Amino acid sequence: MSMFKTVRGMRDFLPRDAEKLRYVEQVARELAVLYGYEEILTPVVESYELLAAKIGEEIRQRMYVFTDLGDRKVALRPEFTASVARLVTTKLRNAPKPIKLFSVGSVYRYDEPQYGRFREFWQANYELIGSNQPEADAEILTITNHLLKKLGLRSYCFKIGHVGILRGILTQEGIVEEQQNHVMQMLDKKRWEEALTTIKQLGASQQCLTTLKKIFETRGKAAFNILKKTEKAVQNYESGVAAVENLRQILTLATTGDKFETLIEPGFARGLEYYTGIIFEPYVPELEIALGGGGRYDKLIELFGGEPTPAVGVAQGIDRIVLAMKKQKTQFKIREEKRAVVIPVNAEMKTKAFEISSMLREAMIPTEIEVIGRTVSKALSDADRRKVTYAVLVGPEELKEGKVVLRNLTTREQEAVDINELVKKLK
Ligand code: HAM
Repeated sequence: MSMFKTVRGMRDFLPRDAEKLRYVEQVARELAVLYGYEEILTPVVESYELLAAKIGEEIRQRMYVFTDLGDRKVALRPEFTASVARLVTTKLRNAPKPIKLFSVGSVYRYDEPQYGRFREFWQANYELIGSNQPEADAEILTITNHLLKKLGLRSYCFKIGHVGILRGILTQEGIVEEQQNHVMQMLDKKRWEEALTTIKQLGASQQCLTTLKKIFETRGKAAFNILKKTEKAVQNYESGVAAVENLRQILTLATTGDKFETLIEPGFARGLEYYTGIIFEPYVPELEIALGGGGRYDKLIELFGGEPTPAVGVAQGIDRIVLAMKKQKTQFKIREEKRAVVIPVNAEMKTKAFEISSMLREAMIPTEIEVIGRTVSKALSDADRRKVTYAVLVGPEELKEGKVVLRNLTTREQEAVDINELVKKLK
């Protein structure tokens, strides 16, 4: 049989890599607690219809879809938001608002594999359901900033837009939602000229085209300045003006206490179709790919059969955050536990070595035992290589006096220690 390899686009995580991914996950989890988000677990496999509903054309075509043995059309989740919305319309239908939910896990998209783009990747997802207030949007921005800051990332910038600006203009021009979605996909891919041509063909007015052109050209870091310019550009479109005002309120809340860089881009669109309000993606200068993505989606829960329920959320791309941390040489603060290895000096000592290792683990000291019958010197050099902190050598001479030899593998000092004193010494 030929040697098996991972399927294209799938990855193995060897211990050092798994540790980094889990570290980011752990920090994301700590923040969920800090902000009052409760964890939920939803299935990796969901009905295709649920996942495909508002995901947008691009991701829809990249979903892992299959028919299960019960003849159901199902798919691997490409994100968490649809599953959360499903829960809100079913089991959490009567839950008091706001509902704040956190999930972390793997998601699947048949993307073309390349740097930072995988077919199985990890997201830490926060959803805040039941508030249409700007403080909810601001909180989602704040959590994302807090996570990146806490992980030690520097010079990151939030690209921010508001779907209400573009959709407001297009709606006022009589362009229906389906056609809008098509245009938004083009804008997500920065195909501005093509989008303008399509909008023209859909019968939009000259005023609309001029306004959109201005919007596509407007972007910049001085947030409130850019908002002022945008407001002027969209002055003939009532809901466009309201969207700009909404963004101003959100940014006032989010950036007054916390300082983080923003790039306001009113013509910015994201591939997902469910957004209705603010949308954002954080970037670091070293990577051209977004570290996360989020926004407001006020219609999705209703579309799934629930009460009209406003919601806003974000998914942090854990894999890409790890890449950004590596690029910026940020420290992964993975706690190095003190570890011991217990080595019997000969075969007769194995039982005692086993007993001592159990005793140490009872005291919560991470302890390994020599399991492949190596000589003491070979076992010690392997422990050295693996940066184990202590070796406990179990030999007949010391054992007669109820002792073992405790060797500090960092300082290379060793001493005979009473077995009853061992836990105290190691702690
Ligand atoms: P998204 O922008 O599709 O949003 O994905 C969020 C993040 O997942 C991206 O910014 C990126 O970091 C990561 N990501 C996406 N595709 C890949 C890939 N192929 N390989 C590695 N990482 C990837 C959502 O998923 C929405 N559900 C976010 C949301 C939650 N909006 C509201 N609530």
